[in-house]
Amino acid sequence: MKKAILCILLWNLAISINAQGNNDRTAIIYLSRTKNTEAVAKLIQAKVGGDLIPLELQKPYPENYKAIVAQVAKENETEYLPPLKTTMKVDQYDTLFIGFPTWGMQLPPPIKSFLKSYDLENKVIIPFNTHAGYGVGSGFKQIKELCPKSMVLEGFSVKGGVERDGIFLVIKGEKEQEVEQLVTKWLSKLKTRQYEK
Ligand SMILES: Cc1cc2nc3c(=O)[nH]c(=O)nc-3n(C[C@H](O)[C@H](O)[C@H](O)COP(=O)(O)O)c2cc1C
Repeated sequence: MKKAILCILLWNLAISINAQGNNDRTAIIYLSRTKNTEAVAKLIQAKVGGDLIPLELQKPYPENYKAIVAQVAKENETEYLPPLKTTMKVDQYDTLFIGFPTWGMQLPPPIKSFLKSYDLENKVIIPFNTHAGYGVGSGFKQIKELCPKSMVLEGFSVKGGVERDGIFLVIKGEKEQEVEQLVTKWLSKLKTRQYEK
């Protein structure tokens, strides 16, 4: 009897070590200016583990909202890819969560820089987004286009701040708890779907 219990305990320990091992191959890469997308990134990390990797630029964007909107519009028009200060060893990961705020109803240029600078073949890509009420725009579609050799799963999108109106970090307190529930629901749906494949 004692032996049987010991065997079960060891088996469960092996499973949990294995699960943690898998989680070590997960990165949560995100761009966040006013920290809403960062709050979602941290909620995801609390559920699945993995490394949090904030994307930083070699030349930061202007603080002023109107100035950044104008700069981003120009970068999108000219297809300029702003150089990143952040570097990472992408080979160390199998699963990449990629978080971004909607900028000009599409992917922010630094996310395009990231996706174009690494070989993401055979990686599982899981996008997530915050916005000011207008949705993700073409962000998820652009990720699929920029990662043709990856497996891109269903993204998560939630309303964050409205910097235009002086509303910055809102995913905190009660709102953070609400978002946590939405994140949990989305992650469990992804898991079920992955097992179905
Ligand atoms: C340059 C810029 C452009 C934006 N464009 C949009 C937009 O087109 N649609 C939208 O819903 N929100 C837009 N937003 C608002 C952000 O998507 C929203 O505040 C988001 O939650 C910010 O995430 P963060 O706190 O992680 O930076 C824009 C914000 C910035 C700074």
